[in-house]
Amino acid sequence: MNETSTLWWDTGNQSIHYIEQTLLPNEYAIVECRSIERLATAIRRLEIRGAPALGVAGGYGVALAAVLAEKKDMQLFMAAVQRDADLLRSTRPTAINLAWGIDRVLASMQPAQDCRDACTRAIAEAKEIAREDTACCHAIGKHGAALLPDTCTVLTHCNAGALACSSWGTALGVIRSAVNEGKKVKVISCETRPLLQGARLTAWELARDGIDVTTITDSTAAHLMRQGAIDAVVVGADRITSDAVFNKIGTYMHAVCAHHHKIPFYVAAPRSTFDAKNTETDVIIEERGRDEVTIMGGRTYVPERAHVKNYAFDATPMELVTAIITETGVLRPPVDIHKLLSHHNTT
Ligand code: MRU
Repeated sequence: MNETSTLWWDTGNQSIHYIEQTLLPNEYAIVECRSIERLATAIRRLEIRGAPALGVAGGYGVALAAVLAEKKDMQLFMAAVQRDADLLRSTRPTAINLAWGIDRVLASMQPAQDCRDACTRAIAEAKEIAREDTACCHAIGKHGAALLPDTCTVLTHCNAGALACSSWGTALGVIRSAVNEGKKVKVISCETRPLLQGARLTAWELARDGIDVTTITDSTAAHLMRQGAIDAVVVGADRITSDAVFNKIGTYMHAVCAHHHKIPFYVAAPRSTFDAKNTETDVIIEERGRDEVTIMGGRTYVPERAHVKNYAFDATPMELVTAIITETGVLRPPVDIHKLLSHHNTT
């Protein structure tokens, strides 16, 4: 199976490289990014997307900010890095991994003696986040694969694959690991309106790996569940509080249907996605622009005077979640997030 990275640090050029995801599946392009403004735009436009990948991007973003500010004295240097970190943090509010990656690299710079030392530390920490993310995905894959029957059809929503992480994927990591173990897994990929991450990215990734994938419109999911065609739902997450799982808009709808049809509903996510400080009502759900909903293939389908709501995410209450698959094992709700986060890191 392909295991290329979604984004990485170029040591020679001191820059970030990433797969430009808005062009897939028609064009596979690698972009080199050397400015914080460009990185912020890439995150807002979903050129880089998916919670764990945003964590890695946040980490590399702080490293890039440090490299760009390196010549200034230490106080000016830290102020410049902090300004850039704040800009990156503001790009997408729901996925907690973005702020987590930014804060982790900022914290790694604290003991630095001078700007050069701070840069070296920032780059090393950002690379470590990327390395750990891949290791977490493989561990999640192993734990999650054990939950799937030897022959099964799994429904997933959005893209929680290699493209949403450093590599391998969370929900798709579970599927990849199960296939590697010899299980016969078919995947139903919901197209995921309005930006079609399921149709464009999940179907592209799985087809490239030779995994059997069928794309459906989001509204077909309940119909297939009623027909008995789905054995499990596996999705990723952008943030997990003690009472809810935040993921791509439409996830809640699948969870309700899965519950009704007694189909297990699994969430696959690393511990960097857990939020011990907030509960459901504290979390900001990103709302995006009208055009994403109203324009398709260059044509406008909604009358100008009609209102549009474009929520990027929804919250699934914990009682609809069968289990959460993390790098340290499988958790059955209720989840003690403090205990989970204090668990010794093994990746
Ligand atoms: O808006 P996106 O494409 O960044 O949304 C991504 C998702 O909702 C994913 O399911 C989530 O980030 C988990 S990725 C492992």
